[in-house]
Amino acid sequence: MGTHFTVGQLTAAAAAAVRAPSLHNSQPWRFRLRDGGIEVSLDRERLLPATDPSGWGARIACGAALFNLRLALAVAGTPAKVRLRPYPAETDVLARLTPDLPRRPTPAEQTLYAAVPRRFSNRAPFWPDPVPAEARWRIGEAARAEQGWLELVIGVSAVNAFAEIARSAHRVLERDAGYRAELAAWVRAAPAPDGVPAAASGPRGEPQDLLPARAFGGRDRAPGRDFEPEPLVAVLGTAGNTTTDQVVAGQALQRVLLTATDAGLAASMLSQPIEVPGAREALRLSLGRFGTPQMVLRIGYGQPGLPTPRRRVDEVLDLPVARP
Ligand SMILES: Cc1cc2nc3c(=O)[nH]c(=O)nc-3n(C[C@H](O)[C@H](O)[C@H](O)COP(=O)(O)O)c2cc1C
Repeated sequence: MGTHFTVGQLTAAAAAAVRAPSLHNSQPWRFRLRDGGIEVSLDRERLLPATDPSGWGARIACGAALFNLRLALAVAGTPAKVRLRPYPAETDVLARLTPDLPRRPTPAEQTLYAAVPRRFSNRAPFWPDPVPAEARWRIGEAARAEQGWLELVIGVSAVNAFAEIARSAHRVLERDAGYRAELAAWVRAAPAPDGVPAAASGPRGEPQDLLPARAFGGRDRAPGRDFEPEPLVAVLGTAGNTTTDQVVAGQALQRVLLTATDAGLAASMLSQPIEVPGAREALRLSLGRFGTPQMVLRIGYGQPGLPTPRRRVDEVLDLPVARP
């Protein structure tokens, strides 16, 4: 067994890690080797102070990147042991990975890994076809396998009640000039290595829409072309809401998204009801369960689309400086 990860292993795995989702595609992560271990840290320079003042979203994104990193290492035959928040005094270091016993990747790891480059946020309307029970079960299992939970919002009245909470949270956020400015600053009209390309934004939100869409610069839509009337809404949560729970939630989120991709499903995220504390509490109460909602997903059968850009891997690595 190797006792150290190498720069080559880190570089290869980080290429998968950066495919993780992040708020406004801000990519708030850094990866480095320290004492033979790979560490995942928050990138303080890429936080969104108006949208994400607590750093919740950045920790979710880093957790998702961590899941991809773990998958890539396992598929390469060099799986990792993971310690979350390994140094109490260094709160930005969210995880440390050290080599575990080498073994062959499992079929599940291989299929999830194959889904990494195919996953993307699909904000366009989905087909009305329902998501089959088997797929619903699989995505719930994916969350549980990573110490998360997934509640499906089932039935017209439950979906309407959720939509009410989400729309009201959206209105609260939209009233904040700092939030609006940050969103506008991350919309990309021209090709860029970060931010949300206008082409990925989905159609512009309309007042009659059930679920609120963030204004990423979407195009006007043809009259009468609306979103699916009964979307499959899923709430992902964790037992608590410590910073560690948020990293756990990010890993669970990524496993759910990759499982959905592998099942031929499309997904988009809507986090307005998580970002507004009153809405988050209303959401938790509406689910009638303990624990903390960490993300909301809309899942269904979508039209094809393209993954969004990322920064180059060497821009997110802190490599040891070679001695002369
Ligand atoms: C914590 C978090 C919150 C997000 N919230 C939203 C949201 O409210 N609306 C939305 O359309 N996308 C949301 N996203 C998705 C990101 O915008 C998306 O991951 C990013 O633009 C990269 O694109 P990709 O998912 O296609 O790779 C969120 C992602 C994360 C990690």
